[in-house]
Amino acid sequence: MKHEFIEKNVGLLAIFIIIAISFGGLAQITPLIFQKETNEPVDTLRPYTALEMEGRDIYIREGCHVCHSQMIRPFRAETERYGHYSMAGEHVWEHPFLWGSKRTGPDLARVGGRYSDAWHEVHLLNPRDVVPQSNMPGFPWLATNLLTGEDTAAKLSIFKDHFSVPYTEDDIAGAKAAVEGKTEMQALIAYLQSLGHAFK
Ligand code: HEC
Repeated sequence: MKHEFIEKNVGLLAIFIIIAISFGGLAQITPLIFQKETNEPVDTLRPYTALEMEGRDIYIREGCHVCHSQMIRPFRAETERYGHYSMAGEHVWEHPFLWGSKRTGPDLARVGGRYSDAWHEVHLLNPRDVVPQSNMPGFPWLATNLLTGEDTAAKLSIFKDHFSVPYTEDDIAGAKAAVEGKTEMQALIAYLQSLGHAFK
């Protein structure tokens, strides 16, 4: 009788469904907030250098993450192609994270070291010069846009103060000088070469 009453009363049924789903969600999500391996960096993780940090911002500005994921799932087809599956501890200092789910191009979570800097430069200028069938757009302006380093120190400070990324005072003091006059291309390539470094 009681069961029939709930089933026929849409409002009440909706409330009970929400309660049931919330408990399911909490049971899965709550432990992750407290587990060491999901919220502490892996031992080999190091913060992005000033130049890599600028490269990361260019990666976001140019929308690279719209075509490329940075998340290797724990399936054989993925680990054989891209390397060890992604670990939460590699991404604890990522704000915002760039895992993505759309793969027009390959996953880039461990692309660091896979190609030379020179390969990346040619590829970013015009991908078809190295991969004839590529449909990735070229980004030629990166080679001529220069970094001023105006905001670099502030960026590192924000990551230090708000996200507990262990930048030293020297890192922050030297940030502008480390990037000023470099091209956006150099910064982006430095960033790409750093991807996956914690698990090399
Ligand atoms: C419109 C979708 C698209 C966008 C936007 C895009 N890419 Fe790609 N990318 C691809 C495709 C498709 C490939 C595979 C063909 C190739 O290698 O060019 C690729 C390949 C790559 C590779 C080689 C990966 C490997 O393992 O072989 C790198 C590195 C790369 N892209 C970096 C970038 C960066 C950096 C940006 C932003 C500046 C970017 N891509 C923007 C589609 C895209």
